[in-house]
Amino acid sequence: MKFLFLIIAAISVQNSFAQMDHNMMSSPISSDTRKPLPLTAMMAEHQKQNMRGHLEAIRDLTEAFISKNFKQIEDAGKRLGTSPEMNMMCDHMGRGAPGFTEMALRMHSEADKITDAGQKKNLKAAMVATNRTLQHCTACHAVYKQEIISEVDWKKATESK
Ligand code: HEC
Repeated sequence: MKFLFLIIAAISVQNSFAQMDHNMMSSPISSDTRKPLPLTAMMAEHQKQNMRGHLEAIRDLTEAFISKNFKQIEDAGKRLGTSPEMNMMCDHMGRGAPGFTEMALRMHSEADKITDAGQKKNLKAAMVATNRTLQHCTACHAVYKQEIISEVDWKKATESK
């Protein structure tokens, strides 16, 4: 009797694993309804590295606010600000997601004001610009999530853009 019970228990555990596998393969169980930002695996890794760099710049800014280090404010602002390379990268990353690049560029141009404020040694203005920049960060995070697709699919999705 005990043995029979064990067999039944084992079968039902196995079934529920099979069901889980099936769900994961056919329709990922996710309640994340944000819009996809389609990227290849390599681009996705690169995008996340950029993002971690952005967070490091924010960390350095808050540190610079405490120590009133205007040079550090200026440098960290530059890392978040607009540049030809940054524009190119955001354009590339956003090819498959309408609206993404525009949001990215808005964030970078807001961050340019952090650098300006650092140059003018205006702590309050630097803090205000950092706060506004962060609002752009969180606004984008509320809308997009990465979706990793194959290189072939990425080319197909973006060739007309
Ligand atoms: C234009 C859109 C956009 C903007 C602006 C943006 N991000 Fe992101 N960020 C993303 C996306 C998309 C992801 C991936 C989220 C996911 O797939 O769950 C991400 C992920 C991250 C991550 C996680 C990285 C990892 O290793 O997993 C951090 C940290 C981050 N962003 C910081 C920032 C900061 C700080 C700012 C502003 C200074 C910022 N981001 C601005 C779109 C954006």
